[in-house]
Amino acid sequence: MIELTKIIRELPHSPTLWANDLVHAKRANDETVYHMGFGESPFPVPDRLKNALADAAHRKEYLTVDGLNDLVDAVREYYRPIYGDAYIDATDIIVAPGSKLILYALQMAIEGDLLMPVPSWVSYDPQAKMLHTDVIKVPTILDDAGYHIDPEALRKAITDARAQGKNPSKIIINAPSNPTGLSIPSEELPAIAKICQEEGVLIISDEIYGFVSFDGKYRTIAPHAAEITAVTTGLSKHLSLGGWRIGVGFIPKGVDGLHNAMRCIISETWSCVSAPVQQACVEAYKGHQDIEDHIKECTDIHSLMNKTISKGLQSHGIIAPMAQGAFYNYPDFEPFREAFAVNGLNTSQDIHEILLNEYNLATLPGKAFGAEEDVLTLRLSGCDYDGAAALAAYQSGASLDQAFIEKYAPHILKSITIFGEFVAKYGFISKSNVA
Ligand SMILES: Cc1ncc(COP(=O)(O)O)c(C=O)c1O
Repeated sequence: MIELTKIIRELPHSPTLWANDLVHAKRANDETVYHMGFGESPFPVPDRLKNALADAAHRKEYLTVDGLNDLVDAVREYYRPIYGDAYIDATDIIVAPGSKLILYALQMAIEGDLLMPVPSWVSYDPQAKMLHTDVIKVPTILDDAGYHIDPEALRKAITDARAQGKNPSKIIINAPSNPTGLSIPSEELPAIAKICQEEGVLIISDEIYGFVSFDGKYRTIAPHAAEITAVTTGLSKHLSLGGWRIGVGFIPKGVDGLHNAMRCIISETWSCVSAPVQQACVEAYKGHQDIEDHIKECTDIHSLMNKTISKGLQSHGIIAPMAQGAFYNYPDFEPFREAFAVNGLNTSQDIHEILLNEYNLATLPGKAFGAEEDVLTLRLSGCDYDGAAALAAYQSGASLDQAFIEKYAPHILKSITIFGEFVAKYGFISKSNVA
């Protein structure tokens, strides 16, 4: 009999893709579905990049494993003012088909177990498991000031894991964060960096949403621990180019052998990113004003949508810290726990299922992001609107206000209304629902 490997048999089906498949099935059935399950930025490809890709269509050769020289040089200079010379000079740059594969390759290259702040993006944990390593959860605090990792809680997670015979050797931090839409405040980054330096833990800073920060500030831990920080990023989010599959990584020279290990993984797996795509992406890193304006305009629209969602949820009594970046909200239904329990809702999965089955509202349960089963959180993506129409309107002078959302993002408003109806029905103990 032909069998799957044990590690793959035990891997749960990706919750993101599962939600997306269900939504497509319902839509194919002519049902209206409000899609807060899948986080894909809805904006069109800027003309400059479309043209550059068309111009590069003749390129067909394999490129070097690190990436096209012109692209690597452009990336280095684009990030220099952000990271500073010290970090740029302390790192080598690699190009990959999406930052997801750089995250995977980094996990593969570094011996030991993964420290994972909770909640975190869905793929870190399965990637660790596919590599036969353990995941050590690190608690976080979420509030209107952001996503906080208490340095002492991090130290304790490391010490406790070692006492249990584990080898916590790498941590992935991500800000602005998927699933929370929150950032780690800049002033809290040095203390996290210091603990990782003292404990010999590699920092993997997932900055894929780095430019989708609603206050326009780029926050990074990299300069605080240059010798042990790898950054993963790319164009999937701020330029809505997820399907182009382009990611870049900054690999610290201070970790002996790491760059070579990454080159080795690349040469034995994906070889190189598609040559035309690499050539076209050089233009994304040249600092062209039209591209920078496009990024800012898209981010302004993400800000409007996601802050509107935070405010709307708060108005229904749901805990929803004000979104700071990316395209997400991570509401917590803890205030409704007692009534939810009376109504048979005890887990994030229960909430997610009722919303999908009864209201045609797709969300993702908090447990997909590492939260315990009974933590009553969901991840909401605020991308269910026509990005091309919204962007064109904003570029033609429309104000980003309530009227804008009513016209260009009615599903977002309807979703907020649904949350109101949902908590009104399930979040209060009435005579009729007490057995
Ligand atoms: C937090 C986070 N990191 C990494 C990725 C991977 O992005 P890509 O592989 O397209 O660069 C995603 C995509 O959804 C993400 O949300």
